[in-house]
Amino acid sequence: MLTLRSLLSLPVFLSSTLIAHVLASGNGFIDAEENGVSVDLAAQLTGGEKCDDMELEKITKGFNEMNMLFQAAVRVDWNGEAELEFFGRRERIQNYTGMIEGNLQRAAQYANLKGNATRNPDIHVRCDDPNDMCDEGNKKDGKHPAYNIGNEPHINFCKRYFNLDPLEDKVDKEAANQKDNRDIMQYYNRATAWARQVMHISAVGTAIVERPVLNSQSNSSGMWTTTVSNGAMNTSVLAGVMNARPNTPGPNDIQTLKYAYGATRAKLVALMSIQEPYDAANNAENYALYAQARYVMQKKKFYPNGPIMQITDEMVVLANEQLQDGGEKRYACYDATDVLRRKMSTNSIGAPISSSASSMVKIGSRWTDQASFAIYLTLVCCLILSM
Ligand SMILES: *[C@@H]1O[C@H](CO)[C@@H](O)[C@H](O)[C@H]1NC(C)=O
Ligand SMILES: *[C@@H]1O[C@H](CO)[C@@H](O)[C@H](O)[C@H]1NC(C)=O
Ligand SMILES: *[C@@H]1O[C@H](CO)[C@@H](O)[C@H](O)[C@H]1NC(C)=O
Ligand SMILES: *[C@@H]1O[C@H](CO)[C@@H](O)[C@H](O)[C@H]1NC(C)=O
Repeated sequence: MLTLRSLLSLPVFLSSTLIAHVLASGNGFIDAEENGVSVDLAAQLTGGEKCDDMELEKITKGFNEMNMLFQAAVRVDWNGEAELEFFGRRERIQNYTGMIEGNLQRAAQYANLKGNATRNPDIHVRCDDPNDMCDEGNKKDGKHPAYNIGNEPHINFCKRYFNLDPLEDKVDKEAANQKDNRDIMQYYNRATAWARQVMHISAVGTAIVERPVLNSQSNSSGMWTTTVSNGAMNTSVLAGVMNARPNTPGPNDIQTLKYAYGATRAKLVALMSIQEPYDAANNAENYALYAQARYVMQKKKFYPNGPIMQITDEMVVLANEQLQDGGEKRYACYDATDVLRRKMSTNSIGAPISSSASSMVKIGSRWTDQASFAIYLTLVCCLILSM
């Protein structure tokens, strides 16, 4: 047990970090400071394996920015254009609107204000690529900027993540670009990448799992029926191509799944009648792009409606690889899922990040503030009283 004396003899940043942890375990909230604006977060980032200070800072800032995205998206307007394009026609998705709203609310909960009892699981972040996935893919199909591990609150960040722009810079810059400012993909930034990953966490994103079962009761029309349940959210695939393991080995016969990353595919899964009505609601990328669009709408007062989808003939779209392509390969590996199974050897729970320079600076600077110092003193008094 740490005594008051040993606490006070620690360097200031370390002891305040420890006290911040006491604070976090006491009421479940920890404050992070972002550009002088205090953000009250409902969860902590842990782990940080092989992330350097600069990387941890970009991860933390991206997380804070993601909270701003989801705050802009939490009130859904089912008559809106963004809702139509990213989730589908209202009649078609009526059974899933409640699920979609719940998912957005749980994601937005990461930014909840102090005093709210609902707390999301801490997120274990890392940069050591335990599944060796960061270098999978190529120029043509892209590479992942980040991936989720096991639908747990566990995210690995790859090199490509660290090249993504900050939210505000990107939105300001692109909105001012008259030529491309209607194209939603122009706004893709590190907060959008975070948003997709957070939706893969089973405590945040809920999706529809429909499985065929043999119906032993009936011998009339259909031998098969389906059972519907809820499961964690993964990535939907285009045009119902579901055979993950091709049964013929020849190179020409291998069908790769077209994972629905990027705005073109996200809109196709929402709009095409060949897709299941819940495919968009099941796709983490759709939520990320929807939230991104809502954020632009809030900030810039227009809806970035590109790429524009005018599907007059679905068969034409299905037969045309290029139409399904979208050409935005910077933000995902289009041939691979970004939810990977956790290996037995991979640690699930991350250690608290206390030695990172970024969090030291951030938490340390709080105590220069008078009010914070008062909290510090109060805490010290509580510690004395409890000893
Ligand atoms: C909604 O759910 C009901 C009951 O499960 C089902 O009968 C109906 O077909 C569904 N509607 C749509 C549009 O999926
Ligand atoms: C906590 O957050 C949830 C969801 O954001 C909200 O519905 C609820 O009213 C909040 N509770 C308080 C006490 O603010
Ligand atoms: C199945 O078929 C048998 C005989 O053809 C019939 O007696 C029975 O009622 C049928 N059951 C159902 C559930 O339709
Ligand atoms: C997503 O993947 C996990 C792990 O394989 C699975 O348990 C879950 O049912 C999947 N979700 C859906 C909607 O298929």
